[in-house]
Amino acid sequence: MTEILQPRPGILDISPYIGGEAKIPGKADPIRLASNESALGPSPKAIEAYKALAGSIHRYPEGGSAELRAALGKIHNIDPARIVCGAGSDELIGLLTRAYAGPGDEVLYGRHGFLMYPIASLSAGATPIAVPEKDLTFDVDAVLKRVGPKTKIVFIANPNNPTGTYVSRAALKRLHAGLPPSVLLVIDAAYAEFVSRNDYEPGIELVNAASNVVMTRTFSKIYALAALRLGWAYCGVEVADVLNRVRNPFNVSAPAQAAGLAALEDAEALDRARKHNEIWRPWLENELRALGLALTPSVANFVLARFGEDAKGADAALSFLQSRGIIARRMAAYGLPEYLRITIGTESEMRAVVATAKEWVQAKRRAS
Ligand SMILES: Cc1ncc(COP(=O)(O)O)c(C=O)c1O
Repeated sequence: MTEILQPRPGILDISPYIGGEAKIPGKADPIRLASNESALGPSPKAIEAYKALAGSIHRYPEGGSAELRAALGKIHNIDPARIVCGAGSDELIGLLTRAYAGPGDEVLYGRHGFLMYPIASLSAGATPIAVPEKDLTFDVDAVLKRVGPKTKIVFIANPNNPTGTYVSRAALKRLHAGLPPSVLLVIDAAYAEFVSRNDYEPGIELVNAASNVVMTRTFSKIYALAALRLGWAYCGVEVADVLNRVRNPFNVSAPAQAAGLAALEDAEALDRARKHNEIWRPWLENELRALGLALTPSVANFVLARFGEDAKGADAALSFLQSRGIIARRMAAYGLPEYLRITIGTESEMRAVVATAKEWVQAKRRAS
């Protein structure tokens, strides 16, 4: 009998993650608003720290990211021993899933939640369960109702990508209170720094209070270091121990550690990025609403706008934007085919988006 080479069950069910486009054929310098990257770019100090390591890239990095963890501990007033750094928060999402879920286990997430949750679940051999949302927002009650003996992990992106919506500190607390202690709650707070609501808490309080909670964070968004791949998890000592057993020994590169540390120390750059977002997100939301588009109320650095009655309509809008040099993100993979997601960019980029969206809406009106 000839046996053929096969990956584990579930692997071929994975739809590979398709990142935002970076190029438009024939357009030299497109406006890239498809990946929720930073509008302003990183702190100049982070760039300097990155460059300063050019002469020592023949050396392995310090494997525990100790200096970076100490700085994170200080800034957030948390224990560095309970922080684990990763090559982006994507890596940590994958490691947590592999460590706590496997064949026969279920991993719950919101229907329009970040796509890495089902991908990580399938690659661990576990079964991802997309729980319906309410008003494009994570539904705590629906998730708690769906938790059963097979549930091992609940993922919540808060705020969520791609909807931009969030759940309050109280709702998050209620979610945790309803979970058995054997279920790991992963709070993915990749966009936490952009949120300016009083009832929001990124997850630190819950991690402090319970051993079955992890908060993940990233340097890819407000700190503008997406290319370096740097994220971190804050969790109980037991989960930190597990992560440190399963991660690669040198999972975070030395330039990433150095640039991350410098970025953390540049409070002014952080403040600038926050203020920029606080001006241009509401501006973009208002302008797009004034054109008659429906938007979810975003607290992050992107907006989700309904550009079409169906996938065809949104795809036509996507192509129209592209024809004017603007790259937005198609949302069909998230079950939102009528929508496009647009990242907050620079002032001129935002003005270009609105002018182009206006042209699109007017052209559509004329055609109907
Ligand atoms: C909700 C959410 N979590 C995690 C990530 C991954 O971030 P990283 O670059 O740290 O892997 C993203 C990136 O888009 C995201 O939107």
